[in-house]
Parts: sequence; structure tokens; C-alpha cells
Amino acid sequence: MEQRFIFKNRKPRLDVFHTVWQAPSNIALIKYWGKTAPQLPKNASLSFTLSDAFTQTAVTFKPLKTPTETVSFRIVFEGEEKPSFRPKLETFFEQIVLYQSFLLHYTLEISSHNTFPHSSGIASSASSMAALAACLMDLEAQLSPMSEDLKKEKTSFLARLGSGSASRSIQGPMMAWGAHEAIPHSSDLVAVGVDAIHPVFQSYCDTILLVDKGQKQVSSTLGHQLMHNHPYAEQRFAQANRQLKNLVPVLQSGDLDAFIPIVEKEALDLHAMMMTSDPYFILMQPNTLHIIQAIWSFRTKTNIPVCFTLDAGANVHVLYPKNVAKEVMAFIESDLLSFCENRQCVHDRVGVGIKKA
Ligand code: PMV
Repeated sequence: MEQRFIFKNRKPRLDVFHTVWQAPSNIALIKYWGKTAPQLPKNASLSFTLSDAFTQTAVTFKPLKTPTETVSFRIVFEGEEKPSFRPKLETFFEQIVLYQSFLLHYTLEISSHNTFPHSSGIASSASSMAALAACLMDLEAQLSPMSEDLKKEKTSFLARLGSGSASRSIQGPMMAWGAHEAIPHSSDLVAVGVDAIHPVFQSYCDTILLVDKGQKQVSSTLGHQLMHNHPYAEQRFAQANRQLKNLVPVLQSGDLDAFIPIVEKEALDLHAMMMTSDPYFILMQPNTLHIIQAIWSFRTKTNIPVCFTLDAGANVHVLYPKNVAKEVMAFIESDLLSFCENRQCVHDRVGVGIKKA
């Protein structure tokens, strides 16, 4: 139990409270893949906070006459009640009620939607858990006033218990999660902002190419589990921490020639873990590889610093600085969209984190 995150006000004043928050998705440059209970990472990770791909969540908290034993809630997603979302939320509330005992005095009406297309293969657990955590923390701060810094920190802490990567969606332009010597104040419990980022990375662009909009073949829950008996697990965790250490000075200097190989290698390392686990998976599709090849030839031909990263799926995140956005977008349109389902992509960029709507 993390004592400093426990809610302490014994007699909070209970009124109806309604709040709405937006939380963005994030894309890891150094990937988190492998964890131990309770949702603690096996290596440190670092991500760009995105901007336009976000979840908006509204919660109405209605006080109850007698407290319940487990958190009482209803979940509506994009206008429809979603029983299939309940198990993940029930587990989340079981974890966090230790830190927010006041939740047992309310029933929660949660209503949520994403700005990115439904079942686009873009992970929504980070943005949705961060948005929900922001709503819960808004109420907590009413019941027991706290500093903005503590509020953000605990938002990341709660979001992490819902989905590890959600801890990194709280602020921009970048966050790191997991204790690491190269990141001051870093911790396995909460994500922290990465300081002194070169201006080129503060407006970086990410176009997400929707290669496969289907359900993920491997849930991240299963993926993390597969790292338990993985023959290369220990090397991978050490490698990720080394790559993070190498990336930090690059983020400060803005050296894109050094940035690109670290980021692309991380994406391929993540997929290499899936290809060599038991059972094994190939999450890339033929079009994922076509896109990677096309990015490499375009980069060689033009010297434009565009690169890719991947999540645990077939979609490709195309990363590039804002000053070449025009050329890269023309290249995406002419050479890459034909590899996407219905030529679909989402143009996004680095953002600032959670916002009250
Ligand atoms: O937060 P989870 O449990 O959904 O895991 C996310 C894992 C990756 O998206 C593949 C990598 C990352 O660090 O975001």
C-alpha cells in the first residue's frame, strides 16, 4: 500500500458531483512489455503524449444513503450500456478503492467516447483509464483539497492500476514510467514528465496508419504474461533500459539521426518478443512491412527524418518533425495510404495531457 496516496478525510461532505475530462492516447518510444503485480513494469518506458486521439469521460457521482462493499457503477460507451467493459472496471475499482474509500459512498454513472474510430486498432485503454482517473481525482480534490502536483501524480498512480501505459497519458509532451537512473524522480508507481525536451520534439507529428482495424490478436494482458517465461525476457528488460538511457540525451539535443534508430529498433524489439514467445505471434501484416520498406526508401532518397514505431498490432505510427509535415503528408497520401484499410489514417501530434472538458 502506498500510504501517501490513501484518502484520509473521514467525514467528507457528500453531494452530487458531475465532471468531464479528456485524456489523450500516448505512443511509447521505449516500450513497456512485461510486468509484475500490482501493475509494476519490468523496465522503464517513455512515450509521446498525443493530442487529437483522446477519450472523453463524464462521471456523475450520486451519494448513497448506505455505503456499498464494492464500487457501484454504470458504464455507457458511445451512447450504449457496455456490460463487456464491466470486468476490467470492476478489477480497477477493487484496486483503487483502497486509495479512494469515498467511492463506496457513491454510485457512479460513467459515460465515455473516443475521438478516434471505434475498433481502429488504436489502443484505447491508456486514454480511457487516464480520463476516468482524472474524473475520480477531480472529486477527491473537492473532498480533500490538494496541490495540483499531487493531484496529477495520484491521477497517474490510479490510471496505472487500470492500465500501465495509462500512467503516461497525464501530461505532455513526454512521460516516463518506471524507475530509471536517467530520469529524475522516476518511479514504478507513477509516470513523470520528461524535462528539457528539445523544441523539435515538442511539436512532433504522429500519423497513425490503420493497416488492420480488427480486434487485437493478442491482448496486452496476455502479452505481458508471455514475458514471464520468455527465454529473452531478462535481455529485453535490460536492453529497453539501455535504449532509454541512450534516448534521453537525444531528446535533449534534438539529434534526429540518433533518435530514429533507437525508436525503430524498439518497435522491432517489441515485435521480436511476440514472435519468440510461447505461444508465438506475428502481429505485423504484410502491409505493415510494405509501409516500413517504403518509409526506409523515402528516408534514404530524400534525407527527410521520418521514422516508424509500432504498438502491439499491425498499425504503423509514422513519426516526423513538424517542419517536414507537408512533404511527409504528401508521401503518406501518395505511397502509404494504399496499404491501409479503406485508406484510413489519423493525423496526430504531441499534446499536453489531461484536460477538464
Ligand atoms: O498498458 P498496457 O497494459 O495496455 O500495455 C501497453 C503495451 C504497449 O502499448 C505495447 C507498449 C507501451 O509501452 O505502451
